[in-house]
Amino acid sequence: MKIQTPQLPKGTRDFYPVDMRVQNHIFSVWRQAALKFGYEEYEGPIFEHLELYTGKSGEEIVSQLYNFMDKGDRALALRPEMTPTLARMVIQKGSELRKPFKWFSIPRLFRYERAQKGRLREFFQLNLDIIGTESVSAEADLISAIASMLFDFGLTENDFYIGVSSRRLLASMLEQLEVKEPNLVYPLLDKRLKMPAEDFEKELLNVGLSEEKAKKLNAFMSCTTVAEIIPSFRGVPEGRGVQELKELFELLKAGGFENCVKLDLSVVRGLAYYTGIVFEVFDKNKNMRAIAGGGRYDNLTETLGGQKITGVGFGMGDVVLADLLAERNLLSQKKSDLPVFIASFNGDMKVLFGTAAEFRKKGVACSHSLNAVKFGKQLEMANAAGAKCVVFADGEKSKDGVWEYKILSSGEQGVDSLEKILEKL
Ligand code: HAM
Repeated sequence: MKIQTPQLPKGTRDFYPVDMRVQNHIFSVWRQAALKFGYEEYEGPIFEHLELYTGKSGEEIVSQLYNFMDKGDRALALRPEMTPTLARMVIQKGSELRKPFKWFSIPRLFRYERAQKGRLREFFQLNLDIIGTESVSAEADLISAIASMLFDFGLTENDFYIGVSSRRLLASMLEQLEVKEPNLVYPLLDKRLKMPAEDFEKELLNVGLSEEKAKKLNAFMSCTTVAEIIPSFRGVPEGRGVQELKELFELLKAGGFENCVKLDLSVVRGLAYYTGIVFEVFDKNKNMRAIAGGGRYDNLTETLGGQKITGVGFGMGDVVLADLLAERNLLSQKKSDLPVFIASFNGDMKVLFGTAAEFRKKGVACSHSLNAVKFGKQLEMANAAGAKCVVFADGEKSKDGVWEYKILSSGEQGVDSLEKILEKL
């Protein structure tokens, strides 16, 4: 009987070293950017009690995640997002945590969804969150961090935009229009740009709006600046929703990020817990799925049985980001970091192990052949390992702390101390 070879599970990825270099580059830019903005790293378990997710979103969420019973009959789930874990951690420590605080994490997440371009069943997601302040400066800090890190990847204002909207503003508009079932309208707002304007208005009629109100809502939704919104609220006080957006855009302008952001009322966000400003990041032509998304959540800790503590944050996935960076040729040159490959003319293993130990004691990363092979073969191995230079352990001139070397990129050869050789790389 032919044994079937094991297959990669659907929606997951292997990371061979060549892929891992790219992945580490993404993680490193993410981490540096978060630290540059003063966020502190945290982590949680990869599985949680299922209840942490069903409590918030109801039972229908179960079909979208990986859940299982453990041997102690506990209902658990692999984490589909980090925000509930963060909320749980915040509730657990309560007033011990000095607020406000800024935390980040790079969790591996799991969602049982149809695998497609930009969406997998297992992925990584940078999370930045600020807990314990109502100030819109928190949104400004997060959105500045997004723009800044995308620049660090080499992207420009021509490659992406951050669409900003406000659940509070949408809610007050729906209230002003006396919409009885706002929850039926939100999904339509989300889909609005994917259908012709007449269809959008027709769908609004279907969920009970009058023709006049449907027209008004459509006009409101096409506003692209805060100034345009204000007349929509004629006769009604401007309200917190508009004020917050105004202030946010001013702060972003002060940081020089005004060309990265725009008001985009079609950003509604699927997750149920957002209450204030919401935002999503897209490639400029909106050809791909969202690169990142987030917003303010006022009631999450309370929903989970804790005190009411406000939070705001976002998640940026690695999948769409890597697709965009690859499309812009910003991932192509990731080489291995090995500085030194040690070679022996005689293929003497003891000399290789002795020299390698000496170099590593000095903190220098190095590798060498694991077999006594001919010199030419060792040079081939150095190239294949992506080493920057070859040091000849038993070269005639390699003595008294100086070494014969060859720099692989330039072909330059010489004799020098290890420190001086490393300076040349
Ligand atoms: P989300 O919109 O579900 O928000 O995900 C944020 C980002 O994670 C998406 O824009 C996308 O880049 C990435 N992402 C989501 N699902 C997948 C998938 N199946 N495969 C690949 N990438 C994916 C949240 O998760 C919120 N918890 C974010 C947040 C943090 N809000 C406040 N704090």
